[in-house]
Order: sequence, then C-alpha cells, then structure tokens
Amino acid sequence: MWRGTTVQVCGLWPFAAGSGSPSCGAPLGQNLLTGVTVCGDPISWFTRARLITNPSLFVKGRPGTGKSTLVNRMLLYLAATGVTPLVLGDLKPDYTATVAHLGGQVIPIGRGVGGINILDPGEMGAAAGTIGGKAGEQLRAEAHGRTLAIAAALITLVRGRPVDDHEQTVLAACLHHLAERHPASSPPTLPDLVTVLEEGPERVRAVTLDRGSERRYRVAVDPLHRSLLGLLDGPLGRVFGSPTTTRINLDAPAAAVDISRIGEADAQLTAAAMLAAWSDGLGCVAAAHALADAGLARPRWYFAVLDELWRPLRAAGGLVDRIDAITRLNRTWGLGQAMITHTLKDLEAVNSAADRAKARGFVERAGMVACFGLPRSELGDLDQIVGLSRREVELITSWSSPAGWGGGADASQPPPGLGKCLIKVGGRPGVPVRVQVTETERRLHDTNARWAARGELP
Ligand SMILES: Nc1ncnc2c1ncn2[C@@H]1O[C@H](COP(=O)(O)OP(=O)(O)O)[C@@H](O)[C@H]1O
Ligand SMILES: [Mg+2]
Repeated sequence: MWRGTTVQVCGLWPFAAGSGSPSCGAPLGQNLLTGVTVCGDPISWFTRARLITNPSLFVKGRPGTGKSTLVNRMLLYLAATGVTPLVLGDLKPDYTATVAHLGGQVIPIGRGVGGINILDPGEMGAAAGTIGGKAGEQLRAEAHGRTLAIAAALITLVRGRPVDDHEQTVLAACLHHLAERHPASSPPTLPDLVTVLEEGPERVRAVTLDRGSERRYRVAVDPLHRSLLGLLDGPLGRVFGSPTTTRINLDAPAAAVDISRIGEADAQLTAAAMLAAWSDGLGCVAAAHALADAGLARPRWYFAVLDELWRPLRAAGGLVDRIDAITRLNRTWGLGQAMITHTLKDLEAVNSAADRAKARGFVERAGMVACFGLPRSELGDLDQIVGLSRREVELITSWSSPAGWGGGADASQPPPGLGKCLIKVGGRPGVPVRVQVTETERRLHDTNARWAARGELP
C-alpha cells in the first residue's frame, strides 16, 4: 500500500502496483527495499490492521541505534489518535521532553525531587468511591491487593529475600486496619504502618496467633517491624514513605514518571521507583477502565513504554512478575506496550530460572518485534522465536558493523545502522525500514546532545 497526498495520488489512479505492509499506524519511514512508506505501531496493528494478536512490541538492538527514537515516534502518533502514552519510569530520560511537548504530565521521582506514597490507593480509591456499590467494592479490594503487593515488593528489595506468607497476612491485616481509619483525603503512609504494628490492634494480633500473649505477638511481627524500620530509615523511606508529591492525572494526554535523577549506581532505588511507578500507573489504568465500565468516563486505551528493560529486570525479581502479568493481560486491559532492551541476553541475566523463563516469554508473546543492528551472535535466539532468513540476518548484521575506518573523519556521516530496523510479525518476511526523524523530534530527543554540546577547550 502506498500513501501520498491527494494532490499526487489522484494522478496515479488507476494504481498499477501495490502490496507490501499495510499503511496503518504511525508513519515510520521508507521501506529500504521498495521505498514505500512503512507505517506501524502495536496498537494500530492489533486493533485496525489485525496483523498481530497481542498489542505489544519488543525492540532490540545495540545502544545508540535509534530504538528510543522509534518508540518516541509511535508515542507521538498514538497520542494524536487519542491513546494515552504512559512512560512509567523514564530512566534516561528519553520521553519526558516528548510527553511535555504533548501537554502531558511529567512526574519526577527521586531523592528530594518527588515521591510516591505506596500506601495511597490513589486513583483506584477515588474511583471506587465515585462508582460505589458492588463494582466500587471490587475496585477497592483490587486497590488493597495492589498496595499489599507493592509494600511486599519493597520489603523484598530491602531484605534481599521474599516476604513470608504469614508476614503477608499480617501486612494485609494492617492495611485493612489503616484503610478503615484513614479517609480517602488523607491516605496512610509507611510510618503509620509501623505505628499499627507497634500498637498491635486486635485484628492484627488475631492473625499472628498470639493467643493473648504479648511476647508471642512480638516474636511474630518483629522481623517485619525491623524490615519496615530499615526501609523507612534508608533512601527508599524518604521517597516512598511520605505523601505522593504529584498524582498521575487520568485526564492528561500523556504521562511520564521521570526517574532519571536517581543515580545509575543506585539499583535498589531505581528498581523501587520503577515498581512503585508501575503499580501507581497501572492502578490508574484499572481505575479509568472501572470508571468507563460504570459509564462515568469515556473508554480509553493506553500505551505503556518500558525502555532499558534490562535495568529493572536485573534489579528486582518482582518486576518480572509484574511485566509478565501485563504481557498476558494487556488485551483485556486496553493497554498496548513497547519493551526495549539491547539483546535477548539481557533477559537471561535475571536472577532465578523461573524469572528467566518468564522474561523469555515477553519476546515470545510480543506481536511485533523490531530488530535494530545486532551482531550475528545475538541472532540465533531471535531466529528461534521469529524466524530469520539468511538475507534478514545479513541485513541486521550489516547495520551493526561500523563504517570504514576513514568514516570517523567525516562527522556528518551517521553510523550505517542508525535508525534502520527490521520489523517482524510472526513468521512473515520482515519489513526493513529506515526511520526518518523530523526536526522537532531531533530537538525533543537527542541522546547525543552532551557529545555535541562540548565546545573547543580553552
Ligand atoms: N532515524 C534516525 N535518524 C537520525 N538520527 C537518529 C535516528 N534515530 C536515532 N537518531 C539519533 O541517534 C541518537 C541515539 O538514538 P536513540 O533512539 O537514543 O538510541 P537507542 O535508544 O537505541 O540507544 C539520538 O541522538 C537520536 O537523535
Ligand atoms: Mg534508548
């Protein structure tokens, strides 16, 4: 299919040639073989073109080849079609300038710049109140489950091992107790949770089987108590233990949680911030869907971006499960997603064998795979998943090979693979495309800015 302006295309009728990928979705650039405009994004290909059975995109390629630029383009297009992009944890940041340009919400998280209160039921709590009745109760129960999961995940991060089942029960009882005491306008925080453990109200004591003995109660809750105090005392406590600085606004055209100010070395805080942002953001999605189901808001679709996937995967086991749940449920949630990483080996680097298997599933379930320049050694695994012809392997490896030695002298020449990718859908032949960036996009997203900015030394 070709796309052109009405001024030009009317002169071509009747069409003498055609075929290729459908022009449905974000316009990306030219097909490297035919010159045809290639369009595509996971949501349009899932909902309109019906090319894929799952609205998810997996992008891989060497650093600096244009992966984030491709996803930024899809984000811009999808926002224009009414889909709400959510960047729940922008590490670099690659997307905040685009989101701000779209009039979206940029929420910075990090020491001294902003925090998320993980015990705040947020939009889910508010929506539960608005909806009321049975559906409202259901949403409230879901919000409780979400809060419990994120609290347990942070404790797991601090401890380095999972929370026991009986501790989970104690946590759940504490959270129920808190939810009853705190009105929606002043949600509880982590210090309130510690106070509840200290005081030990009847309903919390009951689940510890204390049998009226203070000593037995303390023995049961002390490890949890200690972990919570440890959490509160460290950097995590400052970021996640006080009221949320800025809530995600359900009506914003786009939202990005900017966690780029957290240092690269601070893996624990990065993982916690990503977990909290995902929990909060997906809570918002659940709230929006519940409101739409109740006829109180218009139905919306969302596009979640997970860039630099290897960082959260490596830092926290909990996130693998969360992403896993999304890749399975996204169709029912009205949520498309893009996952970006360097190589499939990143998925192998997670801690446990169970997590590794789940992480592999991300690619296997992805409807659409975009492959930027990669060395040949990285392509064997991918071949097993999407099937690559010899010609395709040659193409992808040629993009990853450097320009000739002489190329370095001419700074105006981009590396050979910049912006070139092969889009694969199932076993179909891949579509090779060169992403063409506009001046505006270049301004909004230039990760090489620091290299270019350096002037002559005095
Ligand atoms: N198709 C393209 N044409 C021109 N420049 C591009 C293109 N794609 C990316 N760039 C530039 O290359 C740099 C790296 O791109 P980026 O998307 O951040 O790479 P990655 O996410 O793969 O590390 C950015 O400065 C970007 O502006
Ligand atoms: Mg990138």
